[in-house]
Amino acid sequence: ALVDIEGTYGIVVLAEGHRELIAARRESPLIIGAGDGENFVASDVAAVLDYTDRVLYPEDSDIVVVSENAVTITNNGKRVKRKEERVPWNVEEVQRGGYEHFMLKEVHEQDRTVEDTYRGHISLIEPAVDLGIETAGDFEDILLVACGTSYHAALIGEYLLGGLCGFPIRVKVASEFDHRHLRLDNTWVIGITQSGETSDTLRALRGAKASGCRTLAITNIPGSSVTRIVDEIFLTQAGLEIGVAATKTFLAQLTALYLLTSSLTTDIRTRESLLQNLRMIPAKVQQVLDGEEQIAYHARRLSRYDNAFFIGRGINYPVAMEGALKLKEISYLHAEAYPGGELKHGPFALLRQNTPVVAIASRDDTYEAMLTNIKEVKARGPWVIALAEEGDVDIEQFVDDVIRIPQVDPLFSPFLNSVALQLLAYYAARERGCPIDLPANLAKSVTVP
Ligand code: G6P
Repeated sequence: ALVDIEGTYGIVVLAEGHRELIAARRESPLIIGAGDGENFVASDVAAVLDYTDRVLYPEDSDIVVVSENAVTITNNGKRVKRKEERVPWNVEEVQRGGYEHFMLKEVHEQDRTVEDTYRGHISLIEPAVDLGIETAGDFEDILLVACGTSYHAALIGEYLLGGLCGFPIRVKVASEFDHRHLRLDNTWVIGITQSGETSDTLRALRGAKASGCRTLAITNIPGSSVTRIVDEIFLTQAGLEIGVAATKTFLAQLTALYLLTSSLTTDIRTRESLLQNLRMIPAKVQQVLDGEEQIAYHARRLSRYDNAFFIGRGINYPVAMEGALKLKEISYLHAEAYPGGELKHGPFALLRQNTPVVAIASRDDTYEAMLTNIKEVKARGPWVIALAEEGDVDIEQFVDDVIRIPQVDPLFSPFLNSVALQLLAYYAARERGCPIDLPANLAKSVTVP
């Protein structure tokens, strides 16, 4: 029957009266959990972690027959062996550990996520980075592809890599990637996907490969489908993320992109500064988390509106996009992100007293321009809340409220601003009584095109 099936699938069949399952996949996730006297078929490792940490990853067109005591795999009629791998997570990953929601637990794990992702890749003695991938090479430009939150990480990557490495960088939403309409000579195509299963990202990477591009995937899931498509992988170390809204995997992706930038820059002082700053991030993330109660207080006010705008500039514009996405996803409040300078080209028409504005006012070279934008907004009556550095007293005269962000090199502010915006979205959603870990109509891995 599989010969007649078109499209992508992960399928499992239980025949009445038989004590075995028959499973197969094509481009959709399927894993086999190997237990003692019991075996499992699932679409995600998280589903079997309660029972086993030994997992097999069937390939496309494998047919797997699973009984209590045996797993037999054939491909085109021939017996094949697939390596059993141990997943690096334990059952605690699938427990909430005292938190009300997985999302909150995952937000709180982010200091560790950043450290776990850079640990082992940077030297403690010299400013050196080893990502275990080939970073030299004859590519002329880089194209980043991703969806959703990973796309926002890619936009931050564009800013970093473009500004500090001197390569032309492009970013494409994976569903808009069409290799027939892109110039892809000597292009290094980098896919960012925490799950490693997002159909659009996989399709884009297959297209890139077919065009002869070198490919890299930044993913959080060892053994995921993307790892079998690309030439090289970089694994982030966020552990398993269960909340549908991506949080710690986003910070892990940012860490990967800062590492990649450090390894690609030819300027040793830039590399040194990047690595020094990166090492300070876990402690600073913890400081943002320590301010949780204050953020929760502001979130309660935010939760009472129907629409919100998020504004940012420069490297924090994608952070504003991510903040708006988080709020939309889990609180069902409509939120839009705009570059501060774009408000005058349309959104001004919507700015009234009942439209709050969250403004990211990091102290980089966009700060003055952001203050101007904030004044323009304020003149139209909305409640304005700013994310601003500790010690920035000037901001107070222009906004209604301030969420304080620890001082950091502004290039690294996306880490801290993102954590603050995750908490803002979380507490707004909680106030509105939303099902935070399982928002309506959304899936953790989108395995359909
Ligand atoms: C889904 C999730 C998002 C995620 C996006 C991309 O839409 O709900 O949180 O950002 O997929 O996922 P990926 O696994 O490719 O990073």
